[in-house]
Amino acid sequence: MLLLGIDLGTSSVKVSVLDADNGSVLASAQYPETEAAIISHIPGWAEQSPNQWWHDVKAAILKLHATGAYNPSDIGAIGIAYQMHGLVLVDSHQNVIRDSIIWCDNRAVSLGEKAFEQMGNDYCLTHLLNSPGNFTASKLAWVKQNEPEHYAQIYKMMLPGDFIAMKLTGEITTTIAALSEGMFWDFKNNCLSKAVMDYYGLDAQHIPSIKNVFDTHGYVSEHIANELGFSKGISVTYKAGDQQNNALSLNVVQPGEVAATAGTSAVIYAVSDSLQADTASRVNSFAHVNHTLEQNSIGVLLCINGAGISNSWMKHKVGASSYHEMNTLAASVAPGSNGVAVLPFGNGSERMLNNKNIGAHITGLDFNRHEPAHMYRAVQEGVVFAMQYGFKVLQQNGVQPTVIRAGKANMFLSDVFVDCFVNTLHVPLELYHTDGSKGAAIGAGYGAKVFATIEEAFVNSKPLRVIEPSGTNDYAAAYEKWEHQLALQIKNNQ
Ligand code: XUL
Repeated sequence: MLLLGIDLGTSSVKVSVLDADNGSVLASAQYPETEAAIISHIPGWAEQSPNQWWHDVKAAILKLHATGAYNPSDIGAIGIAYQMHGLVLVDSHQNVIRDSIIWCDNRAVSLGEKAFEQMGNDYCLTHLLNSPGNFTASKLAWVKQNEPEHYAQIYKMMLPGDFIAMKLTGEITTTIAALSEGMFWDFKNNCLSKAVMDYYGLDAQHIPSIKNVFDTHGYVSEHIANELGFSKGISVTYKAGDQQNNALSLNVVQPGEVAATAGTSAVIYAVSDSLQADTASRVNSFAHVNHTLEQNSIGVLLCINGAGISNSWMKHKVGASSYHEMNTLAASVAPGSNGVAVLPFGNGSERMLNNKNIGAHITGLDFNRHEPAHMYRAVQEGVVFAMQYGFKVLQQNGVQPTVIRAGKANMFLSDVFVDCFVNTLHVPLELYHTDGSKGAAIGAGYGAKVFATIEEAFVNSKPLRVIEPSGTNDYAAAYEKWEHQLALQIKNNQ
């Protein structure tokens, strides 16, 4: 059977078709080709149009079909991975009410902080496993308080992947995992959190029917099947947040296994079988793809909002012609970037910094000594150093990986980034030829029971490269300096 995986990212949609019989990817496509924008009307706000996402998903699928590498009517199931924590609102005709308030939007931070205090840290950490923060429930509360005319039109609220599934099938469902990443899920009582709904005055009718991640989330409707060349009756059998999905794509599903990614945001993601929470909610715990009412499987997640987006900003604003050129120039400079340091925090409030939005900072620039090459290296080091800063919080929470797995994609395509990563975190790294769209296709296969177990999808999987730490401390001094700069900026922000 052929499986279609859709990965709705922040900067683009990626799609792949996987042949379940031999595990090979027959074709992949991306749309749009240049990075999609985030709309920010007010500093700290971040929105995107769900209708534009749907347009881009369809364009990506048609581009994929145009490769001619397979027959679209042989696709048997669809899986969806999506940017997490966003809020999508539709009315009773399934029309979008307002643009989506996406994962890196800050507007609800103060609401979430107040909720953490008033609902009680203890309740939040033991039931939600997190502070309500600026996750989806707080965003919905913001709409209720600030846009009552929009709130009054709501038929259902959903996460971005639920919206794409709705457009494909006409059915509105969500998952335990989606509700957990939105702070609607009570892990202790295994149900919608009444305390959150009551505290924010939200309406339980707005929550779609709840399914597991691997489940039938609806059948592709006839007019969409005709438009996109699918056979009648195929279904969406998997929906997961992009970070849970990245872990799945790397076969990171058992307790103790750890995945990383560095797209728009950078994440380190560790699987645990206990309902654990960081006391200050600097790293977050959400339901993993294989979490069910009967079996706990939690992804403990460190997120840096301003990762690939910093690198992309540097490329466009400093003016490199390609990431390849940037990486080559970055490699011509020694570790430490000759004193230039980048704090890559320019994409909203950072959870590991207690939801502070300290902005990005470039320090140590000397106009007589530094070239763009130093900036290109410093931004990559800055993202790794931010990951190391958060990795220490993960370690305090018991995460002790013997290896970290990542797809050879986005910033992990850069040798400078990879070298800095293994020699700063001092953990071996396995790089795989995979990405979110392949992960979503694998998820679709397990959801459709084409694979009897998740492991079955990975029988032939081998890392492309295993990179061991060199045993030297080339980055130690630069990291220390970076951490000092961060401490100064945190102080300035108080
Ligand atoms: C994870 C997070 C980001 C988004 C990016 O918690 O907020 O990684 O999922 O799409």
